[in-house]
Amino acid sequence: MPKPLPIQFQATDLEALASQKGRIAVLADAGQPQSPGFRRLDRLTKGALARATGSEAFGKLKPGEAMDLAYPPGVAADAVQLIRLGKKADQTQARKAGAAVGRSHGAGGSLVLAEGHDRAADIAFGLAMRAYEFDSHKTGEKTVPGPVTLMATNPEAVAKAAAPMAAVAEGVFFTRDLVNEPANILTTHDFAARLAAMQELGLDVEILEEEDLTKLGMRALLGVGQGSESPSKVVVMQWHGGKKGESPFALIGKGVVFDTGGISIKPAAGMEEMTMDMGGAGTVAGVMRTLALRKAKANVVGLVGLVENMPDGRAQRPGDVVRSMKGDTIEVINTDAEGRLVLADVLWYAQERFKPTGMIDLATLTGAIIVALGHENTGVFSNNDDLCNAFLAAAKAEGEGAWRMPMGDAYDQKLKSRIADMMNVGGRDGGSITAAQFLQRFVKPDVPWCHLDIAGTALLKADTTLAPKGATGWGVMALDRLIRDRFEK
Ligand code: BES
Ligand code: MN
Ligand code: ZN
Repeated sequence: MPKPLPIQFQATDLEALASQKGRIAVLADAGQPQSPGFRRLDRLTKGALARATGSEAFGKLKPGEAMDLAYPPGVAADAVQLIRLGKKADQTQARKAGAAVGRSHGAGGSLVLAEGHDRAADIAFGLAMRAYEFDSHKTGEKTVPGPVTLMATNPEAVAKAAAPMAAVAEGVFFTRDLVNEPANILTTHDFAARLAAMQELGLDVEILEEEDLTKLGMRALLGVGQGSESPSKVVVMQWHGGKKGESPFALIGKGVVFDTGGISIKPAAGMEEMTMDMGGAGTVAGVMRTLALRKAKANVVGLVGLVENMPDGRAQRPGDVVRSMKGDTIEVINTDAEGRLVLADVLWYAQERFKPTGMIDLATLTGAIIVALGHENTGVFSNNDDLCNAFLAAAKAEGEGAWRMPMGDAYDQKLKSRIADMMNVGGRDGGSITAAQFLQRFVKPDVPWCHLDIAGTALLKADTTLAPKGATGWGVMALDRLIRDRFEK
């Protein structure tokens, strides 16, 4: 689904409730005075709602959780969904409440009675986020989702607050679609074309081809892609929403459209998951889309390295030595540690060309970060406490798990090579940290930088509050928040 469901914001109309088709969601809390919408529905259903909120089952619901009253008498709706949400609910709880509606939203449409709730816009956002589906490769009958109406006491104010959030949801959907897309469809060429299409939104998009990359000396990046039929590319997306001439903030993404491991080939089991190895690039693209959609007042440049890591007669071998754009040479011990080779050149290029005020890279970089943090938190590495703390605060505010990991010279020492300036791996121990140390070698010391290892958070095997299983779009919300709070205030 390329775009989030459109939501109509309307004034509360109690007279419309009896004949409303599809599903009706209404907010309630035990032991609190109920809203006019609740009371009207309760009257129409001969007290069914009051009985339900008085039940033990309702009492056990956490804020934002819901229960269904199916085919209640006295109303035309197929279901009344009772959502437990108090007046003083926080953002997370309100989004969860909306997600409950989004999860059960079907062809018949949904009416949400947000009425006078302060967090009506967050409810709408949660609804849109959770109603995501990736069904473009399913044939047969598909349910077309029905319309969504949200009734509020002050619909204009809610619509206004919801508009920038809708831009975030659309960015997240863009990321999720990219990450879910299989690699025979999302080739480097197709990926670049989808990014180029964002020019319509006012982004400047440039595609650097292999010829350009060769001239720039990006041998580290090119080495990764040389075994693939799909040509390597670097795509640069610029958003100029800030002051003219002011240096941008840079977002850099690993875009390995498929990672077989190369000649250091991965085992067969689970290899299909490596279609998500472009997740960092996908997130950067989603953030750029959001910034353009909501016309952010900041200068931000997004750069992604798009390559495919394949074994082939021309593929890079273990033991090869490549020269990076920076000039440092790298002994490629393991062709499966390819993401850092791609990022090394893109990081360097970003600094040389844009002199950014800071940069954040995102990458599905190491399996080791999943061993360390599981799927709950992205690993955060940084050379700058101020930027790092700002990012951690933004992630926390958006409910996206992020945890800072250590760095240090002792880890860096593990990258020493006998024949080149460095090796591309530092051994099994602390694998995500040595990967971050490798990247830091391509970051100028005075440039504030964070590296986000999203290997565990970009794609999940289970549903979360705001996403069905599959691609999560982790990081779009947090990075949009960071840019808003740091550059637009
Ligand atoms: N793309 C993988 C990391 C990965 C693993 C992402 C699991 C998502 C889920 C990366 O390119 C890789 O293969 N890393 C190696 C590095 C090793 C060879 C030093 C790894 O983690 O095993
Ligand atoms: Mn790999
Ligand atoms: Zn990889």
